[in-house]
Amino acid sequence: MKEWETFDKISYAKGMWLFDSKGNKMLDAVASMWCNVWGHSKKELVNAIINQTKKLQHSSIFNLTHEPAEQLAKKLVRISPGMHKVFYSDNGSSAMEIALKLALQFWVNSGEKQKSKIVTLENGYHGDTFGAMSIGYVPQFFEKFKKQLFPTIQIPVPNHYRIPKGFTYADYENYCLEKIEAQFSKDSKIAAFVMESGAQIAGGVIIYPKNFQKKISQICKTHNVLFVLDEIATGFGRLGSMVQYTEQKSIPDIVAYGKMLTGGYMTMAATLANKKIYDEFLGDFNDWRHLFHGHTFTGNPIATAVSLENLNLYQKDHLIKQIQKTSKVFTEYYEEILKLELVGDIRHKGMLMGIELVSDKKKKTPINPKKSINKIFFEEGKKNGIYLRTLGNIMMLVPPLAISENDLNLLLNRTIQTIKSAQKHVLK
Ligand SMILES: Cc1ncc(COP(=O)(O)O)c(C=O)c1O
Repeated sequence: MKEWETFDKISYAKGMWLFDSKGNKMLDAVASMWCNVWGHSKKELVNAIINQTKKLQHSSIFNLTHEPAEQLAKKLVRISPGMHKVFYSDNGSSAMEIALKLALQFWVNSGEKQKSKIVTLENGYHGDTFGAMSIGYVPQFFEKFKKQLFPTIQIPVPNHYRIPKGFTYADYENYCLEKIEAQFSKDSKIAAFVMESGAQIAGGVIIYPKNFQKKISQICKTHNVLFVLDEIATGFGRLGSMVQYTEQKSIPDIVAYGKMLTGGYMTMAATLANKKIYDEFLGDFNDWRHLFHGHTFTGNPIATAVSLENLNLYQKDHLIKQIQKTSKVFTEYYEEILKLELVGDIRHKGMLMGIELVSDKKKKTPINPKKSINKIFFEEGKKNGIYLRTLGNIMMLVPPLAISENDLNLLLNRTIQTIKSAQKHVLK
């Protein structure tokens, strides 16, 4: 876009703050694309990277293995109830491609080739590669590739702010669940149901009703459909639990992690599967049951080493407890934010808040200024010393997970200032 032809250059970062080449500093309100855990330049993570770099920078895990990859896999299985084995990759989209391939090939291996359809939720987002675009179809992002994407069946998702006329929130949740049940009952070709765990973030911060995910997992079990979860953005404490699916009481067959796995310092993701899946892939070479998939940097030693240190710190510093306490700060601002003229709704869970911006509160009309919303709020945020990125008409607050109460108060106050000062650009 022309309006982004020049960018500010970030020179270094420390704690919650990004410093640009002109000496300005901004609080990182989006955890550098939702992945930063401890803030920037955390000594222990930097040292883990340096120490591993001195020993082994990269060695393939085709035919070989190495200590950090093995240790990390054991640790991931330990924190993930029901999971048995780990498949590494280097970004979240790839982790979801792997999840898809595992789910589809599982049925081929078990002699039920006809089970090849994928059911997903409307508004879901699972990455930008072709498989990920197919299962997480966001029309504004992906419309231009629609023809090349494989078909999926999409089920509506309850968003308490935008419930269709004639429904209560609870009615609409039941309606969505019944749609899944009906789909599964009439079609025996469904291989898997794929959804983000706990909430949809990119689709507009839609936090599921309490038992929605649990009920979907039960419907999957009843109908012999694999249940695949994407915890890339919502696991590892983002929504307040280490593993979101345990909070949701919904054990998947396959789950993907990414983003915060390395503390947000390196590029790394993982797809975990239960024993049922693993056993279906196990066989002799000539059985051809194995999965053909691997990336050059799969299981990179530096990325796995920093992930291990990151997980050690979660335990040592009781990060999940800290998040549960700190995230209460958000609730103290609900009233003040909701009073703002541009704000229609706020949706919050753990260290995630979505603020829906509207030009007419009664009609719930999304703001639609001439200039890009993202640019307006980025510029206004910068003036207030915060790095913000909106998605559509949703302002996302996704700070580093270990943010202190003081810094979170600062962030929320500056966000309120930013919304106020942006108003003149939005409601012209
Ligand atoms: C839920 C979810 N899944 C998958 C991805 C894709 O991850 P990556 O950007 O690392 O490919 C994202 C990225 O934002 C995400 O939010």
